[in-house]
Parts: sequence; C-alpha cells; structure tokens
Amino acid sequence: MSEIDTLTPVLTDNWDQDRSWTLAAYERQGGYGALKKALGMTPDAIIAEVKDSGLRGRGGAGFPTGMKWGFIPQDNPNPKYLVVNGDESEPGTCKDIPLMMASPHTLIEGVIISSYAIRANHAFIYVRGEVLHVIRRLQAAVAEAYAAGHLGKDIHGSGYDLDLVVHAGAGAYICGEETALLDSLEGRRGQPRLRPPFPAVAGLYASPTVINNVESISSVPSIIANGATWFASMGTEKSKGFGIFSLSGHVTNPGQFEAPLGITLRTLIELAGGIREGHELKFWTPGGSSTPLLTAEHLDVPLDFEGVGAAGSMLGTRAIQLFDETTCVVRAVLRWTEFYKHESCGKCTPCREGTYWLAQTLANLERGQGSEEDLDKLLDECDNILGRAFCALGDGATSPITSSIQYFREEFVAHLVEGGCPFDPAASTLFVTAGAQA
Ligand SMILES: Cc1cc2nc3c(=O)[nH]c(=O)nc-3n(C[C@H](O)[C@H](O)[C@H](O)COP(=O)(O)O)c2cc1C
Ligand code: SF4
Repeated sequence: MSEIDTLTPVLTDNWDQDRSWTLAAYERQGGYGALKKALGMTPDAIIAEVKDSGLRGRGGAGFPTGMKWGFIPQDNPNPKYLVVNGDESEPGTCKDIPLMMASPHTLIEGVIISSYAIRANHAFIYVRGEVLHVIRRLQAAVAEAYAAGHLGKDIHGSGYDLDLVVHAGAGAYICGEETALLDSLEGRRGQPRLRPPFPAVAGLYASPTVINNVESISSVPSIIANGATWFASMGTEKSKGFGIFSLSGHVTNPGQFEAPLGITLRTLIELAGGIREGHELKFWTPGGSSTPLLTAEHLDVPLDFEGVGAAGSMLGTRAIQLFDETTCVVRAVLRWTEFYKHESCGKCTPCREGTYWLAQTLANLERGQGSEEDLDKLLDECDNILGRAFCALGDGATSPITSSIQYFREEFVAHLVEGGCPFDPAASTLFVTAGAQA
C-alpha cells in the first residue's frame, strides 16, 4: 500500500501552503464554503449530518459528537454556548496546537457551523496560556473572520449572530478536564465539577453548553462540505473517519500523520521512516501518558477505539510516544508520575495523596531502594486511586504504572538487584541520569 493510499489528509491538507494560516490562503482552498452550505441548512439537519457521520470526540473519550449536540435542551430559556477545548496538556499530545497554528480558520469555520447547529450566539476557544504564539494567531484569524462577515451580526445575511472569544488559560493540565475548564473560563480556580448536572444542561454560567475538542470541531466543515457518507466511508465500523496521529520519540521522522482510524502502528512507523536506525521498539503510548503502555507485541492492533480497548489500553488523543530499548521504563514512568503529582488539583484525597505516594514509592524503586514487596505496594496504591478519584486525572496517573509493571516487572526488579538503574545512561537520548551529567 502506498503512502497516498494510507494517509487521508483533510485537516492537515493545507498545512504546507504559503501562509496557510491567513484567510486568503484558506479561502483559496475552498475555505468557508462549508459555512455557506451550512447556513442554507436547518440547525437540526446539521446535527443529523454530524450524527450520521459517526464522528466521535477527538479529545480522548470518543463520545459521539452529534449525540452530544442533541443533548442541548432547546426549550431552556438560557443562552447556549459552544466551548472549544484547546488546553492540550497531556504529555505527548501535540495535534491541536499545530492545527491551530497552521490552519486557525479550519477551527473557526467549524466553530461557526457547530454554534449555528446548537443555536449558540457566543462561542469560546480555551487555549492553554503557555502557547502565546497560538493565541495571537487565533486572535488575528478571528479578527479576519469578523472583517469578512463570517462572524458578528447577521452572518452573510442569514439573520444568525455569533461572537467568538479566544481565552487564554493559565497553564494547568486539569483545566483540560471539561468542567474544570468551565470554572476557569468563569474566572475561578479550575477544579472539576460534580456531575450531574452535565454541561449540556448546566455548563458555562449554568447554561446549556457543548464542550468539544479542537480536532472534533475542526472536522465539522469537511463533514458538511462532503457529507456524512464520505466521512463514514473512512475508518472502521464503530470508529469512523480520520484522525491526526502524532508520532514522537525514537522514530526516524516524528510528526503528524493524518490517517483513517484503524490504521496500525506498524504502518505508521513505516510512514515515519522506521524506528531510529540500529534500534528496536520497546514500548509506546497509544494516546498520551494516561493510556496504558503497549509493546512491540501490539504493532498490528487497529488504532481505533475498539481495537486499542481490546488490547488493554485506550486510543486517547492518538499521541503515540515511541521508546526504544535504550529507555529505562521505570525512569519514564517516574517522570510521568511526577507530572501527575504536580498537576493533581487537590480536590479529592485519593489523587491528592495517592499521586504523592506513587511518586515517592516509584522514586525509591528507580534508585534501587526497597524490596520487591514495594511493587505490590505500588499496585495497591494504584488500586486505591483507580475508580475512586473525582475525575479521570487520578485514573490516568495509574495507567503508566500498572501497565509498565504488567509488561516490564523484571526491569523494576533489576533496579533492586543492581541497586540503581541498570541502563547505561550514555546510550539513552531521552533520559540522562544525574550521574551522567556530572
Ligand atoms: C485531566 C484531563 C485533561 C484533559 N485535557 C483535555 C484537553 O486538553 N483537550 C481536550 O479536548 N480534552 C481534554 N480532556 C477531555 C475533556 O474532559 C473532554 O472529554 C473533551 O474536551 C470533550 O471533547 P470531545 O468530545 O470533542 O472529545 C481532559 C480530561 C481530563 C480528565
Ligand atoms: S482526581 Fe486529582 S485532579 Fe481530579 S479532582 Fe481529584 S485531585 Fe483533582
């Protein structure tokens, strides 16, 4: 199969065009054509088209997008809101930021069509605060869209009004969790909310709110332009369409590969020029650090929601981080665990206290201190967090630990036997020990 057969560039199609982020470049490629078509349709017809396409949320959980829009109670007298989740802080996840940089108008066109469908007159794009360059680019694109009449009052004479605000977060991973994001957008400290009520009923300012990932909303213009059947012709039975697979780590040509859901890691690695020369794949994350690790045994798993689930992990954000045999899995997992400990918002005890204990137990093991019983202690700590934490951050913190012990228990034990990391630090490009720096 050739690369052209395998890849399905839709969202990434215009990324290499000259000044692809400008309105002129976007419109040269047919941009905002889907908006004109959408404004000639009824809002319900757009919701039906998105439902029929089978689009599932690209932010990690894979909830059907059209169904989510259908939950907005239209008899509620409060305003309706669309909020785009552009927080993108999961380690390894790096698709929304390049999308917003290279083609902000794809997202903006998606926002206008989606807001029209759910009958919202105000929309927000919440972007993590550290990426100032992305925020500036989005703001410039929004200003261009207003000037062209794509945003504002009576859009293209349709009688439909929409205002769009680009909001900068302050840099907290938890603000990507949709209800913490809403608290943050309202000006409060970002912490998850108790559900129910769900955001569709009482979200932003206690009003009906749809929250969708950047890539989900950016997929909408192509669905409206080409139809639900076109979208559903790609992907697999229950995971339709295409998605951006982000390959990083020990691969020859890391980058973004837009392909149908169901593609395998074996094919993606081929497209990326293979694992770096002279090395072999040891472990990988299918969708960011919150998704259980997989190994070289899983090269032929279909990368769709069902296939990755059946292999014991999750598709997540398709953030595929690849690690070769020079990487110490204990060290890698410790790094992620320190991240979760740092980012725990502190609202619930299992995660606030548990991530602290996980990091401490793991750090001791990585230094070769303790005994094999500490591995069981670590699993017990995970068991006390998984399913008992208030939000999915706590669950996610346990994934790299339980999966690494499942596949690499002997490597943990080797740290204890050798009284430290058995890896030669000079051979590893990703992890340099304090000893190697000295
Ligand atoms: C700790 C945590 C962080 C999250 N970060 C993001 C994020 O950065 N972007 C995102 O779209 N979803 C993130 N999510 C998932 C959102 O809560 C939500 O499911 C998603 O925005 C829904 O959009 P979708 O249906 O289009 O996927 C996160 C969830 C958790 C628990
Ligand atoms: S699981 Fe962690 S991040 Fe989520 S509410 Fe509890 S303390 Fe906060």
